[in-house]
Amino acid sequence: MRKLHTSLLVSALAVAAVSAPALLGSQAVAANYAASIYSDGDVYMRNYVNSLMSYAKENGDRLVVNYANEDLAQEMNQLELAVVRGAEALIVNPITTSSGAYAIELACSNGELPVIFINRKPSDELLKSYVNAYYVGSDPSESGRYQVDIINQYLQAHPEADRNADGEIGYLLLQGEKGVPDTVMRTLSLESGMEASPITFKQLAKVSADWKFTEASRVTSDFALRNNGLDNLELIVANNDDMALGALDYLQSQGYNTGNPDKFIPIVGIDGLDRAVKAVEEGTLIGTVKNDFDTQARIAFKIAALAAEGKSVDKTTLGAFLYNGNEVSVPYLKITK
Ligand code: GAL
Repeated sequence: MRKLHTSLLVSALAVAAVSAPALLGSQAVAANYAASIYSDGDVYMRNYVNSLMSYAKENGDRLVVNYANEDLAQEMNQLELAVVRGAEALIVNPITTSSGAYAIELACSNGELPVIFINRKPSDELLKSYVNAYYVGSDPSESGRYQVDIINQYLQAHPEADRNADGEIGYLLLQGEKGVPDTVMRTLSLESGMEASPITFKQLAKVSADWKFTEASRVTSDFALRNNGLDNLELIVANNDDMALGALDYLQSQGYNTGNPDKFIPIVGIDGLDRAVKAVEEGTLIGTVKNDFDTQARIAFKIAALAAEGKSVDKTTLGAFLYNGNEVSVPYLKITK
């Protein structure tokens, strides 16, 4: 018999559902999946969810998406409710590693449901601890290295970017949410790539803007206030595009990056959001690194479907390579003009 956790205080669920088609063939039974997303204020994850929903729709399946609002209790309640409502697989974008553990505990005691973690990687121990656990993401160090490539290439072609001609490129680093692997690894690989570069960089400040546009705009303006303006700022690197675009918004409000070549500060992001790619085309950002949410969503959804049906999840059935037996890493891609 299934053991259910029934402390169901489910409040304020932001539920989006792709309903099963009204008329299914007499044989066809729509599958029922649930996704839990750490926050609804994250632009990249919103795009990711749109892709998940379109794959569910294409398959004629039902996918209920809950946003946990960065609140662990909400995330747990939403997962419990999903199980009670008969979800056949859980797609989990966990708030923390420990909430990942809760998803596994719940799935394990409810008929060994598949748990597919996406985008925020739980610990290796946790991933190994459950036979029906998977992870779909990408290698965050790769994106940091790609940012360095984009920056080096740009600066080698534009020596005038050293606007104060002190032989160093003074930069501001906008970091994502503290402690999550994407923030930590993107930052580490960026900083070590910069050290290995023939160009000399000087980190003027490293501030967390929590993946968010408005926060990035605010901290960039704060930086300008503390540093007598923007004269010594020669580069902005952001752990994601939404922050890169927030910084750009502030720079533009100060007359930078609007067409005057003497007032240009190169900015680089990560994600390949449509707005960022457009900014790269327009020349207001120097580049971004595509974090391919659509491919990740397609693979995550396919794993959910295969595992829920008790089918083998391998290179042949999935059409993607699994390392460690249960992890898929989708490559990043550099985008420049
Ligand atoms: C990253 C992405 C960020 C943010 C973050 C959430 O992969 O680049 O924009 O969505 O995940 O953990």
